[in-house]
Amino acid sequence: MGRIRVLSDTVANKIAAGEVVERPASVVKELLENSLDAGSTEIRIDADSGGRRLIRITDNGHGMLRDDALMAFERHATSKLRDVQDLLSISTLGFRGEALPSIASVSRLLLETRSPEETTGTTIEINGGKLLRCDESGLAAGTIITVRDLFFNVPARRKFLRSDQTELAHIASLVTHYSLAHPDKSFELRHGPTELLGVTAVTDIRERVYQVFGSQVLDDLIALGYTERTIQMRPEDGDDEPAGRVFALRGFVSRPQIQKLNRNSIYLFVNGRLIRDRLLLHGLSSAYHNLMPAACFPFALLFLDCDAEEVDVNVHPSKTEVRFRHGTFVHDFVRDTIREALMQSRPGSTVPAQGAPQPAASMPWSEFSQAIDNPAFGAAHSAVPVLAGPAPGAATELPEFRLRTPTPPPARLPLTDVQQEPAEPDFHETKPKVDTRPVRLPVPDTHGAFPDSAEPPVSMQALTDLRPMGQLHNSFIIAAGRDGLWIVDQHVAHERILFEQVLRARARGGIERQQLLMPVVLELTAAQQLQYAHIADEMNLSGFDTEPFGNRTIAIKGAPAGVGPADIEKLVMEILEIAEHEFRNLSLEDVRRGIAATIACRAAIKVNMRLDQTRMEWLLTALGQTDFPMACPHGRPIALRYSMREILKAFHRI
Ligand SMILES: Nc1ncnc2c1ncn2[C@@H]1O[C@H](COP(=O)(O)OP(=O)(O)OP(=O)(O)O)[C@@H](O)[C@H]1O
Ligand SMILES: [Mg+2]
Repeated sequence: MGRIRVLSDTVANKIAAGEVVERPASVVKELLENSLDAGSTEIRIDADSGGRRLIRITDNGHGMLRDDALMAFERHATSKLRDVQDLLSISTLGFRGEALPSIASVSRLLLETRSPEETTGTTIEINGGKLLRCDESGLAAGTIITVRDLFFNVPARRKFLRSDQTELAHIASLVTHYSLAHPDKSFELRHGPTELLGVTAVTDIRERVYQVFGSQVLDDLIALGYTERTIQMRPEDGDDEPAGRVFALRGFVSRPQIQKLNRNSIYLFVNGRLIRDRLLLHGLSSAYHNLMPAACFPFALLFLDCDAEEVDVNVHPSKTEVRFRHGTFVHDFVRDTIREALMQSRPGSTVPAQGAPQPAASMPWSEFSQAIDNPAFGAAHSAVPVLAGPAPGAATELPEFRLRTPTPPPARLPLTDVQQEPAEPDFHETKPKVDTRPVRLPVPDTHGAFPDSAEPPVSMQALTDLRPMGQLHNSFIIAAGRDGLWIVDQHVAHERILFEQVLRARARGGIERQQLLMPVVLELTAAQQLQYAHIADEMNLSGFDTEPFGNRTIAIKGAPAGVGPADIEKLVMEILEIAEHEFRNLSLEDVRRGIAATIACRAAIKVNMRLDQTRMEWLLTALGQTDFPMACPHGRPIALRYSMREILKAFHRI
């Protein structure tokens, strides 16, 4: 007799559950997406013991007809797809027809649903995949799904779950993400008696950001507005294709001064679907390239919308990854739009400066797992912490959430990094002081600014009319401006000026060089020799004149003008060193920027150097004319402002 047999539905569902249901938050994700697909406008999520003991989602969507309700638990049963053609343009969040049977196979599930078309509702109870009952009952229109004792029949999976607090944090982070993507719907998340998130429907995403994070965070964000870019289709893409496809990007990104150590604060949505996508992450990081230290990340809330046919969502069982048909176009669109917004808004830093983040003690598992599975991203971190699987015993990263926790001020997610799990506050037992006051929404004035913010955000626009008054420690220029007192770091300011100059000259092919009377001969290690081979052309286009000179030796015959002859050897070594650490996986454009940053750093005026009035004036004017005067190419702030308001306050004048 043959050895191959078809698996029973029960086994097949359990296998599918292995992919789809990783932890309580994955159940919440699937059920939440179903509720959204059902057109719900009010969604309530209840959880208990981090979702382990109970997850209940109540929605006011279109519910299910009695026959459909039973059918929904069949494998591959869906109302969202009809034929293979539909797969090419999926506009719903679900489409695989797998979530409900998978969840039902690893829990005790109760479905209560009624479609407005029927007068009575349906109650279905399933225990570990076995149907216990299917009754008619009087129910309100909509759907309630209760999932109890997750993984009660899969002890191996249960063991992988982390503390209730961590599982709950993942759920909270997920619900927060979805609430940001759907400001026009109300969301409520409760853990036992505690309300963790409660947001009513609003018309504007800005208001939802305020509801979730508070006004402080809004002040730190730059709105991207609504930007469209059209890709022209080539005729060979198909005759029936329209001439162009429109991509639209909106959302918020943080000022470069807000630097986070991981990608937990990056929320990416493609056509309303929460995803993690390396291409978009890379586009975002590239926008901040040379504005932020390499190991730091911004806060970002990005919504990319495009034709459903432009994006394949059928890539991963948990539907968290996508593939773009025109990836490069999308990447560049995201990078350029964000870069443009940063350039326009020119955000500055205030005194006291926002501290640079402290390095994390240990790399969280999610970061580690991605780092190893994609070297191109270095120490990458999941943008969707919920979906990153924990390893037993590994440090788990807590997604940022501070929603209606026992702190009195209204719901607010601080932009500071949450690096470790805080000492487990038990949401259940300690009676938290829940802030039940309704969130008061600020009304934007006619310019769209919110009065809540104490004063307008610092803008580097002010640089153009600063009056330098002198230097502090021969290193910092002190300048008076209309909006307060400015302190400018002369070295990094000059670095930024030179960096942009070098890049512009490089683009024109017109970098000024100096020929050396005596070539400098450098001995390289084997690794450096490989790096050199990789970047030699780019170095020579960036103003160097170097060539191999025997085995593992190079001769430098020329270098960019402005670099002192004594510095040339160090400069080349530095470039090779960056090459060793970073260039391996970076694009040529990144290599070019890296070289320009190194040249700028070497050639820039140093600290501890006296500058006369003309020089200081020149420096401030030239800085004001750069595209990104807010940060040096390595991501450090260039100028700090001590605002007039702060000064008046400190002198008790206001
Ligand atoms: N909250 C709900 N309200 C109304 N109908 C629902 C709800 N949840 C599920 N359904 C119905 O049950 C069907 C099966 O749900 P299920 O989540 O298993 O599959 P899906 O959403 O179609 O695809 P996926 O597996 O990708 O989520 C859905 O297609 C939908 O018709
Ligand atoms: Mg679904």
